[in-house]
Parts: sequence; C-alpha cells; structure tokens
Amino acid sequence: MNTTSIINGQPQQHLPVTDRSISYGDGLFETIACVDGRLQFWSAHLQRLHEGCLRLQLPLIDESLWLEDIRQLDIGDEPVVIKLIISRGSGGRGYKMPGDIQPTRIVSRYDWPSYSVELFNKGGCLKICHTPVSVNPALAGIKHLNRLDNVLARNEWNDENIIDGLMLDASGHVIEGTMSNLFAVEGERLYTPRLEQAGVAGVIRQQVMELAKKLGYECEQINLSVSHLLNMDELFITNSLLGICPIRRLQENAFNDWPLTRKLQQSLDMDGASLAI
Ligand SMILES: Cc1ncc(COP(=O)(O)O)c(C=O)c1O
Repeated sequence: MNTTSIINGQPQQHLPVTDRSISYGDGLFETIACVDGRLQFWSAHLQRLHEGCLRLQLPLIDESLWLEDIRQLDIGDEPVVIKLIISRGSGGRGYKMPGDIQPTRIVSRYDWPSYSVELFNKGGCLKICHTPVSVNPALAGIKHLNRLDNVLARNEWNDENIIDGLMLDASGHVIEGTMSNLFAVEGERLYTPRLEQAGVAGVIRQQVMELAKKLGYECEQINLSVSHLLNMDELFITNSLLGICPIRRLQENAFNDWPLTRKLQQSLDMDGASLAI
C-alpha cells in the first residue's frame, strides 16, 4: 500500500471536521527533507516544534512516537518531503481550549519539489509582495498553522523565474519570504531580518548563522528595508528543501556573483545533523 499519511499512529487520509486545526489553525507544523533515508536537521526541527508546543500550551509529543509514525510511511529511495503536524485535536465550537487536550498528530510524505539545477547555478528572482506579514510577538518564530498571509502573498505571482516573494511588516521592514528566510551580504558581513515580531525562525537560518560564525563572518539580525537590500552585494534565501539559494534579481537589481553565498553553500553540511529512519 502507498502510505502517504499517518494520523495518530494509523494510516489515514481524513480528519474529523471538529479538529481545531481546521476551525482555527490551532496547531503547528514542520517540513523536513528526507534524503537517502535520513531526516535532515531532525533535532532542530523537533526543537522548534517543542518550543511551539510550549508557546501554544500544547502537550509535547515524544520523539519516539513521531519516528514510529514516519517509519510507517512508504519513503522509498528518492528524496521526499516529510511534514509533521500537531493540532489541539477535536473539541469546542468556540475558541476556548478544551480542558482535556487530546492532540492530533499527523505525519505525511510528499514528493520532492522539482527545483532546477539552474536555480542554484544562476540564482532565482525575488519579488516584493504587497501582502504584509502579520505582526504578533506571541506567534513570531514558531511554525504555527495560521498561514493565510503566506497563502495570499504566494498567490501574487505565477512567473516560474520567481523563487519567492518577500513579505514586509506594516513599517516596511522585510521579514522573510513566503516560504524562506532571507540573508543579505555586504562585504564580509551577513545580515538577516530580526524575527521577534513576525516570521518563522527557520532551521536553515539558524544553521547558516552558526556556520557563518564558525567561518569567521559576522552575522547580525537587524531591521532591513527594501532599499537596504538593493545596496547589498549578495542576497540568498534559505529553507529546509532549498538549503541555500542565491538570488540573481530583486526588482530591477541584478546580482551576478555570490562569493560568500557559494562558500556557505559548500560548507553547509545538509547531512551532518540528520537521523537515519
Ligand atoms: C514562512 C517561512 N519562513 C521561513 C521558512 C524556512 O524555515 P526552515 O529553514 O525551517 O525550512 C519557511 C519554510 O517553510 C517558511 O514557510
């Protein structure tokens, strides 16, 4: 059988309509690359999920349960995407959290997205989205299921050359891409937007910040505007499936070579912190 989803330990494709993830987006998710049967940066994903659970007052789910579920999926030999979801489960027509929370745990397997080699060689284009990102320090950093900003922003383009769109807060600070974090390079310094008010604290963003430090580069989290970005030497975006992806165009600005981005790409060990399943 081609098992693509496991819900609470059982092969299933359907959720009860009373599940709070459907009603309120009341939960969290993780998107994880599984390459050569290894879950890349597994502990970092689990750590962010645990932090999210603490923030949303959701019960923590034991690592062994997640892994048992993932092992029930048909993974095969090709790279695949593994998605974990925890929701507050069924209960309550209103917003009030149920007293006895029985979380819903979902793991799913998806095909690997078809990124072209050219994207990594020649770089992708970025656009600036009109849809602003929601500011809420209580939700900033975690990967919660309320993703309507991203859905509206991602619907702003159809051009396949555009790899992602940048989302700004109401003050014009660039926060992140619809599916990625952003880095800017000026000389030997790296910058990435602060995420205390909005955005997802990406697993790869954290890896890149640590790697940059190890390689002797300064990496600062700052407020960045679009005009700052247009004056930078290099831009790149990060996420768990792309790793590090250079940017060749932002609006009318072209970026033609990426010496520091290339160095980070070569040094980021996508398998180093992986777990064999
Ligand atoms: C909105 C958003 N920001 C950032 C990221 C990057 O996160 P990660 O590096 O953990 O994949 C993602 C990944 O899907 C995302 O959806």
